Amino acid sequence: MRQDEHPPDLLTRYERVVNPGLARVYRFMGLEGIEASGHGAVLIDEQGQEYIDMAGGYGVMAHGYRHPRILRAAERQLKGLAQSSRILLNRPLVELAEELARVAPGDLTYSFFCNSGTEAVEAALKLARAATGRKNWISTMGAFHGKTFGALSVSGRDAYRDPFQPLVPGVVHVPYGDARAIREQLNDEVAAVIVEPIQGEGGVVVPPTEYLQEVRRDCDKAGALLIADEVQTGMGRTGRLFAVEHSGVVPDLMCLAKALGGGIMPIGAVIGRPHVFEVFAQHPLIHTSTFGGSPLAAAVALEAIRVAIEEKLPERARELGQRARQRLDAMWATYPRVIQEVRGMGLMIGIELPSAGVAGALMAELMQRQVLAVYTLNNDRVVRLIPPLVITEAQLDLALDAIESAAGAIDSYIDELGD
Ligand SMILES: Cc1ncc(COP(=O)(O)O)c(C=O)c1O
Repeated sequence: MRQDEHPPDLLTRYERVVNPGLARVYRFMGLEGIEASGHGAVLIDEQGQEYIDMAGGYGVMAHGYRHPRILRAAERQLKGLAQSSRILLNRPLVELAEELARVAPGDLTYSFFCNSGTEAVEAALKLARAATGRKNWISTMGAFHGKTFGALSVSGRDAYRDPFQPLVPGVVHVPYGDARAIREQLNDEVAAVIVEPIQGEGGVVVPPTEYLQEVRRDCDKAGALLIADEVQTGMGRTGRLFAVEHSGVVPDLMCLAKALGGGIMPIGAVIGRPHVFEVFAQHPLIHTSTFGGSPLAAAVALEAIRVAIEEKLPERARELGQRARQRLDAMWATYPRVIQEVRGMGLMIGIELPSAGVAGALMAELMQRQVLAVYTLNNDRVVRLIPPLVITEAQLDLALDAIESAAGAIDSYIDELGD
């Protein structure tokens, strides 16, 4: 580098050594800030600019950035062991599993720990095959379960699937929210039905009230397991600690990740009913993960669950969700050319726009107003709001003001936006 040349900025360096395509998207969206810190629902960049994060780290930040109690739990554990020998017993792992068994619905009792959502789904798919001796799975169109091979095979977006064919065989996809479509595919070769209680990346799709109950009944009749993927909905986001609680349904396996790590550690878990985990009695090492449930991650997750309960995060999600919905429904009525639908549950809200172009414009307008939001991965016409559940009313109102003024601005130039 010559003396008079500036060093390349971080985005250019990212472009050179990480992901050139994504760097172009960042540039197009005007996303050039570099994250440095945060607290609650506020993310702060290296220039000290503050943003209200309505994307909540894609669902990771339910407890907010750097929750003091969860940070302290991490610091305490760092004075002991962060990683496990995996030979002597790991106390935080056992304590976390006990707490999950206590708070999870019904007789969901046993936990397997891993490091991400997709790994939790992999574990659930494998356990379903091992427990039933059957090979096939039923999943739903638009589903997002992760991007490793098994999870991708049950996910429902061709753009992510096609480049990697052939995927794991034995999966059928049926329309989401249609219990009859699942019933028609159930037979004695189906190991499990995997379903999100609310489709997140599919565009925040809330199924009919009885959906899960019907699917549960039909799975029981067919001897198939029900896997609930709560990676995005879990830990209070929809107004209950777990979204399946809205229907009273107890799945055979429940996948968790994202917010389970309290915004501080990566962790995934699949929690199962005793009959599913019997497979470990014969084969204790049939499915393992070296890092899964490390003492540090487990201690953090345990505190994250306690904070969620003690700070009443599900109740907050319900109340603040209603507050947001009232305002957003009014915006939908005022700017119907911009906002085509508002839907969701608790603080998991989708705003459907007429095109991906308008969704992009909304994200860019919000960015200019220091509000972060992203579209859903399997439906780029939907901008989702999944802020930290600790967001204050004042911050939520500021974010809603920004959405209103962004919608007004877009209304004035919407005819110039392409599809
Ligand atoms: C419902 C659901 N399942 C699984 C995953 C995959 O999680 P991860 O990205 O941690 O692998 C996601 C991620 O968005 C998700 O929303």
